[in-house]
Amino acid sequence: MFEKLAPTPEDPIIKLIGLYKNDPRSNKIDVGIGVFKDNNGNTPIMESVRLAETRIHDAQTTKAYVGLAGDENFNQTMIDLIFGDHNGKERIRAVQTPGGCGALRLLSDMLFRAASDRTIWVSDPTWGNHYPVFRQAGFKVDSYPYLNRETKTVNEDEMLSKISQLGTNDIVLLHGCCHNPTGAELSEEAWDEVGNLAAKNGFFPYVDLAYQGFGNSLSQDAYGVRTLMEKVESMVVAASCSKNFGLYRERVGCALMVGKTSEEVDLARSNILTAARSSYSMPPDHGAAVVNLIMNSPDLKSTWETELTAMRNRILSLRKQASDVLREKTDSEKWDFIEHHRGMFSLLVLNQEQTDALMHEHAVYAVAGGRINIAGLRNDEQLNAFADALVAVTS
Ligand SMILES: Cc1ncc(COP(=O)(O)O)c(C=O)c1O
Repeated sequence: MFEKLAPTPEDPIIKLIGLYKNDPRSNKIDVGIGVFKDNNGNTPIMESVRLAETRIHDAQTTKAYVGLAGDENFNQTMIDLIFGDHNGKERIRAVQTPGGCGALRLLSDMLFRAASDRTIWVSDPTWGNHYPVFRQAGFKVDSYPYLNRETKTVNEDEMLSKISQLGTNDIVLLHGCCHNPTGAELSEEAWDEVGNLAAKNGFFPYVDLAYQGFGNSLSQDAYGVRTLMEKVESMVVAASCSKNFGLYRERVGCALMVGKTSEEVDLARSNILTAARSSYSMPPDHGAAVVNLIMNSPDLKSTWETELTAMRNRILSLRKQASDVLREKTDSEKWDFIEHHRGMFSLLVLNQEQTDALMHEHAVYAVAGGRINIAGLRNDEQLNAFADALVAVTS
């Protein structure tokens, strides 16, 4: 049976994790894997999560199924978290999913049922999993210009110029905030323009929101989503709670749909539920129960917001420190973009030889292309060693 299967390529990030783990050098630095780390190199369980888990454990009386859409209180909580106080919430539906990936998968299946002849446009570059998820659903996938590889900022003129040519046969995937892998953010003006173009030319916005709260603030990171919702008739959002609640392994996310009318969006929701039924059926409960309890208990919510702010501040402070150190070491502003990027990632735009040299000669593990997770730098010593390594391989 299985001998007819073609071998599959190893995921480059999983491979990198293995290489890092087996590297005996005590000075090794992991800026590859995409999870938040504290200054001890740990990905801790948030205090708010622990407290919520204890309360859930003490109060729970059943493990019966939660239903295809998951917990409706969680779904409403996610609508509030993502869309804030905006009007028009009667046009929104939400369905609990296993992680952000589950949301991407279901939304893509539903959209393909609705419009199989459309092309999905992703940023160049984008997160490695976007292509396989969209192609698996059946879509053609193409890319629009995004990163200016010289300045490491978004090439907004080129991006908007390409997007302005798209229309009713197109879906445009946008990273809601904290772009993975580049770290380069769209300006508010550019979000406004994307919304205007979508409203005028009819392309469909599809937002991947995996890092709300990791960039500037919970509300600022939702600027794009909220702006689009005000301007367009319909759109979808794939949200993840893996990062901002540190619930990676619990698999909790949400598929959100905005429709022209509540009847139209109900159709989208029922098709999402059919897609869920034919794959995993019901989502796991625990992570969503934790998020729901935190967001609806004033004490837990306040603890969570404080913890999320601390994570964000650690990222922002590491960004500033890295830029300062590199400015000093190179006597140039070449690496200043690291400070201006948002979220955990920055794409340094390195070639294969340079990332290989980082790993082999300096024990620094970065993803191909030079994507670094700034939160992987534990302390000043690691930050300094990382900066030295980067200068050595790029000069
Ligand atoms: C851009 C982006 N989208 C979606 C996800 C999905 O996250 P998860 O399925 O772990 O919630 C990730 C996780 O790395 C991501 O970086």
